[in-house]
Amino acid sequence: KTCQILGVPTQSGTSERGCIMGPTAFRIAGLPEILQELGWQVEDVGDAVPAAMPDVSHSNPAVRNLDAIIAWTKSVGERAYEMAKACDFPIFLGGDHSMSAGTVSGVARHTQELGQPQFVLWLDAHTDLHTLHTTTSGNLHGTPVAYFTGQSGFEGFPPPAAPVDPRNMCMMGIRSVDQAEKRHVAEIGITVFDMRAIDEQGIVGPLNSFLDRVRAANGRLHVSLDVDFLNPDIAPAVGTTVNGGATFREAHLIMEMLHDSGLVTSLDLAELNPFLDVRAKTALLMTDLAASLFGRRVLKRKTRTY
Ligand code: ARG
Ligand code: MN
Ligand code: MN
Ligand code: MN
Repeated sequence: KTCQILGVPTQSGTSERGCIMGPTAFRIAGLPEILQELGWQVEDVGDAVPAAMPDVSHSNPAVRNLDAIIAWTKSVGERAYEMAKACDFPIFLGGDHSMSAGTVSGVARHTQELGQPQFVLWLDAHTDLHTLHTTTSGNLHGTPVAYFTGQSGFEGFPPPAAPVDPRNMCMMGIRSVDQAEKRHVAEIGITVFDMRAIDEQGIVGPLNSFLDRVRAANGRLHVSLDVDFLNPDIAPAVGTTVNGGATFREAHLIMEMLHDSGLVTSLDLAELNPFLDVRAKTALLMTDLAASLFGRRVLKRKTRTY
């Protein structure tokens, strides 16, 4: 089993500086070595660089750094597509979540060529479903889901080659959704397990129901993990903390179930801002979560078959 690791040091999608240091923090935390120890053949392909910045403006004056985000989306989309072709499992180290406009559209393009459906599991406090027209903060890390599902309102962006069907998307951990996003999410049919649903039903039932759908459709599954999915006390290194996030144990359980499913084919680790971390604890936790997804477990055998 081969995996390639790409750093995607975006921070133009936020107003908080520091995500540019994210890929470096993951490397210092030892992510490549840990995956190697778990039996993967790992190749670190370095960091993505943005394409040439286009000369653009937008009718929504709130929009920030549109030129840079378009440039990153172009180059990361290409890199992600090439990685999906070249290895079994591409990993993308962010970088703010605007990275996923490129990563998901890139891997989905390869999945379409394989003739399989692309599924996405979005682990986040936020739905990131704004378009250039609906964002009020202007921070484009709040927009990648609308982009890669092919919604209109992304003037100047390359159209995604293989838009992800929103009905093939599941979100967990959601607890901060803007008005425009609320309307949109219901309309396009994304499955959302917000924090209320997780409090009531736990992780196992909801996640298994989604994984069953991926399996039944012979789909490929991209997982996008935003640091702010986690509760701020265990994961402070993110510019957009929201109280009431996933616990340490919920997060590891999700990762272990994902590993056991054998369905995951690509991963984003997004929004790590090492400048805001506390003795590297967020970088280390995100790295441990990735290790669980790649097969680290307490006992050598599966304790339960999902
Ligand atoms: N919905 C808010 C906004 O558009 C927050 C977005 C947070 N996104 C993220 N990737 N952390 O500004
Ligand atoms: Mn492949
Ligand atoms: Mn996000
Ligand atoms: Mn978020």
